[in-house]
This record gives sequence, structure tokens and C-alpha cells, in this order.
Amino acid sequence: MCGIIGFVGKEPAAPILLDGLARMEYRGYDSAGVAVRSETAGLQIRKTKGRLQVLSDLIHGGADLDGSLGIGHTRWATHGEPNDINAHPHVSENGRIALVHNGIIENYMELKEHLMRQGVHFTSDTDTEVVAQLLEFHYNECHNMLEAVGRCLRRIEGSYAFGIICADYPNALIAARKDSPLIIGYGKNGNFIASDVTAIIKYTRDVAYMDDGEIAVLTADSVDVFDDEMSPVEKAHSTIDWDVSAAEKGGYAHFMAKEIMEQPEAIRKTVSPRIRDGRVVLDDLHLPEEYVRGLSRIFVIACGSSYHVGVVSKYIWEKLLRRPVEVVLASEFRYSDPLVDERTLVIVISQSGETLDTMAAMREAKRRGGRTLAIVNVVGSSIAREADDVLYTWAGPEIAVATTKAYSTQLVLMDLVGLYLAEKLGTVAEDEYEAILSEMQLLPDKMQRFLDHTEDIQYFASRYFNHGSVFFIGRNLDYAMGLEGSLKLKEISYIHSEAYASGELKHGTISLIESGTLVVALGTYAPLFDKAMSNVVEVKARGAEVLALTTEDFREKMEKTADATIAVPVTHPLLQPSLGVVPLQLFAYYVALQRGCDIDKPRNLAKSVTVE
Ligand code: F6R
Repeated sequence: MCGIIGFVGKEPAAPILLDGLARMEYRGYDSAGVAVRSETAGLQIRKTKGRLQVLSDLIHGGADLDGSLGIGHTRWATHGEPNDINAHPHVSENGRIALVHNGIIENYMELKEHLMRQGVHFTSDTDTEVVAQLLEFHYNECHNMLEAVGRCLRRIEGSYAFGIICADYPNALIAARKDSPLIIGYGKNGNFIASDVTAIIKYTRDVAYMDDGEIAVLTADSVDVFDDEMSPVEKAHSTIDWDVSAAEKGGYAHFMAKEIMEQPEAIRKTVSPRIRDGRVVLDDLHLPEEYVRGLSRIFVIACGSSYHVGVVSKYIWEKLLRRPVEVVLASEFRYSDPLVDERTLVIVISQSGETLDTMAAMREAKRRGGRTLAIVNVVGSSIAREADDVLYTWAGPEIAVATTKAYSTQLVLMDLVGLYLAEKLGTVAEDEYEAILSEMQLLPDKMQRFLDHTEDIQYFASRYFNHGSVFFIGRNLDYAMGLEGSLKLKEISYIHSEAYASGELKHGTISLIESGTLVVALGTYAPLFDKAMSNVVEVKARGAEVLALTTEDFREKMEKTADATIAVPVTHPLLQPSLGVVPLQLFAYYVALQRGCDIDKPRNLAKSVTVE
């Protein structure tokens, strides 16, 4: 949510800033801006409403701005509508300090009123401008930029990642972080800050993750980091081991299409290293045997699609572990006075590892004595670093705002953890354990087989893309999978859709089914296939148009009743959602394509939700 980048070095900064912002545009795309310091022109600020391309055209790809110190921002508006004035960077009244910000300053009104009483004039509606003005105020007091930043940070409440430049410090880039991600990149021709490694991987793989409360001062050939008491901090360096091409479209029209196609490989990478001699081996999980045996309850907390993974996993884990599993939206969990104690395991699922609600919920669980295990995709992210244990999904960078491969890898990793715990608890029969594990290893090939022929889904999308409202219905694992199918469709195609437990339809919602209403009926969970069929008959009798999803062995039966049928390969019933979700992703993708939507950057959304 909002992407920030900064560069100080021996090369022109503007093209580097634009390139980095382009790779982070998924974080926010309602406006963009840069500030570049030049010998002759001083601080040059260019910012504009709209996509990054508008900014790039405005400054001719960066050629208009000389100087090798700069900051850039791509915005997802929180305070103040997306317009030229509210776009970042924000500049202090005397024009000498510019900053970009990701996060929210919670006490900005109070600070703004205070500064206005001192005669400061504001131009924007943002919380960020307050920080620019406050910086100038403290700088005028102490005439030392680092000290001014320290004073300012002590007064602001909320979350932030800042990139700051000051006309009086022509060679220094200052950064600070609290509860919003920020990394430092150490390059040959200069140093960087960025919200995400994707922005700078082209220039360097050598990075350090800033921690809460830290302030960094970067020059072309030095990086100094300080804690909140201004004591120097020695940062550990990490090396990014994926290639820049992993964050490029590679010939696909959209990142989402590429990422859907990458799922077999992502699942293979997530699963294979964790199966040895027919057993699940989780080297990074350090749960003592006694703790596992004494577990009283399990929570899964997450947001959005990651929450949907939790809903699928609840069905699977309760079968395997015979322990209560409660799945709670992170935004609800944190304020719910949750019943967590030392015998509670709290699983936290997050692709980005930066979702603010998920992080806050995790901290609340820890505060109450719970043990936290994070399932995260982004290495070194805040949630990964704060959890008691972390298991990574090896999906690689996910750029499209709508998640696909992260969802799939989270799901298989949850399956593996479920099996692992069930074995420790002795709650899974050996033949069931073996059957699930061997099917799990076959998932990538089966998924690939399905992905090789997606023509029928394209055809169904062209048939149904004009529907204004869609219902996804299913029972048990199919219901859980339907939640994700429905979210995918609504977020990228803007079609209103709902996921319903089929058995619940009769209790009200069936009144909305009328002639021609599109119902996506999910019948992939073999033990309840007959029930799924009855629900198809039920909605057909009310005039619904039914697009059914089932498995290859039930295709014939389903085709007799449904108007259109998609069939996925058969796997173990508990793993079936891993295959079933793929056509739902593709259906959403092709429908959005037909409707001419901006698939990778849907309106109002951003990939990493670092505000509450
Ligand atoms: C939907 C989607 C979101 C995320 C949610 C949580 O396609 O991507 O619903 O799943 O914002 O994000 P993470 O997993 O990064 O915590």
C-alpha cells in the first residue's frame, strides 16, 4: 500500500526512481511523484494524479530531472482524494525538505492544528504533509536534519516508512520505519531504500531489512543505521536469491495470467523440499512435542484470500487433527478479546507478511501468551520476523494485485503442516497419511495437465461475462473454495458475486435466483457430490443458468443437469480445492479480460494493505 523508493549515488536518480516505482505500482496507483535534488535547480518536485505512466511522460522518462539524489512514491490514497496536490512527495513550506511516506499518521490533525497556530500554511489534505512541516519546524530549532527527524518521530503516532531529502544535505537520503516495510539496498553505484525488493533487484541483491524505530542515513557510498535512541545499529545483510525476470511478465499479457500458470512450479517448490522418505519434514518449525500434545485450540488469522486459505484448512485440519480450529479475520480478531493462552497455536497467513491487521492480530495473540506460526511468502517481511516460527511459501514474487499462486502455495503448505501435526498427535491413520502425501506430490502434474487446456473456460467466460450478479454455491470444501472464486471474480471483473454454503441458500438467498441468474455450482468434493447435484437441480428449477465445476469422474453426471461444466483432475478429496481453485481463477481472469478491466491493478485495491 503505497510504494516508496529512494536513491543516492553516482547515476541520474530519476530513471532509477521511475523504474523502481513501475515495479511497485501494484502497491498503489492513483498518483505518483518524485523529488530529485540537482546542483543547479535544487529540489525538483514532479507529481501527478493517475498512473505512473502519466508522471513518466511528464518528465520524459526522467530525462528532465538531473541529479543523483531522489525519492519517489506511488500512492494508494488514505487521507485526501487522489489528485496532484495530495500526491507525494510532500514539501515543507520553505521548499527545502521533501518526503515520501507509506503508512498513516494517526495524530496528524492535532499536529496540524498545532503547526497552523504557529503560522504554518498547508496545501494538501494529507497526513503526510504534516510530517514535512513538522520536520521543517524541528530543523529550524536544531539545524541538524538527523536530530530533526528524531524529534519529529518522537511526536508522531501511527505507521510509517519515510524517505526524506533536504536541500541543505545534497548527498544524503534519510529513511525511517515503523510498522510499514522498508528495505535498504547496497549497490555498486549508490544506495537505495524501497518498500519492496522488486523495486531495486535490478540494481542490487544485497539488502538489509529496517526494523521498527530505526533511522538510516544513506550516501552514495555509506549507510548508517541508528535505533530510536540514535545509537548506531549493525545491520545484517541478506541476499535476494530470485532473478529479476521473476518479477517481469515474461510474454504474458498480465502478471495474473503468468502467476496462474506458475502455480504447478510454485507448489512443487513449496512441497518437494518438505517431503523426505515419505514423511513431512519441517526443519524450520520448532514446536516441542509436549507443546503439540498439550494444544487446546488453534486459531488461523488472516485477511482476504489468505483468510480463505484458512477456511479451507479448517475443514482439513479438523478432520486430521481432531482439534478445534477457529478461522478469524485478522481485523476482527484483534478487537475481539480472543481466548488465547499458552496452549493456543495461532497460525498467521500472509503473502506479503506486511498486512497491518494481520500483524496487529499476531501481536495481540503473542501478548496473550499464544504461540505464533506464520505462513508467509515475502522473505524477511515484518510478520515473518516477528512470528515465533515462520514457514515460507516458495511462490516467488507475486505482482498481480489478485493473488493466485500465493493462495495455492499457502494451501499446500497448510496441508503439510496439518499432516505434520496430525502425525505428532497420532490422529491420522498411516494409510490416509500416505495417500494424502503421495497425491500432494502429484498435484503439480495434475494442475499442469489442466492448465494445458483452458479453452473451455475462455469460452464460458465469453458466454457469461455480461452477467451482473453471480452466486458461487458449494458445501464443505467446495464452499470454502467458492469464497475464493467469488472474491477473484468480484475484485478483478467488478461483477457482484456471493459465495454461499449450498445448504444455506434455502434460508433466504434463493429468493434472488431468477431466470438467467448465473450460479457457479461447485461439486468437486466427492463425499458430498450427490448433495451438490441436488442443489444444482434446485437452482435450475428456479431458472438459474448453472456453470458447474466438478472432477473428471463426475463430469458425465454433472453435464446432464448443468448448462456448462468444467472438470478438474481427481485427487485426494482433501486436496481437491488445490485443483478446483484454478478454473475459478481463470474464469475470473477471462471474464475480466472480456470486460476490458485493468486486471493487474483493479480499481481501489492495492496489493499490500499496510493500513487498518
Ligand atoms: C485478494 C488478495 C487479498 C489478500 C489480502 C491479504 O486477491 O490478494 O485479499 O489476500 O489483502 O494479504 P496478505 O496475504 O499479503 O496478508
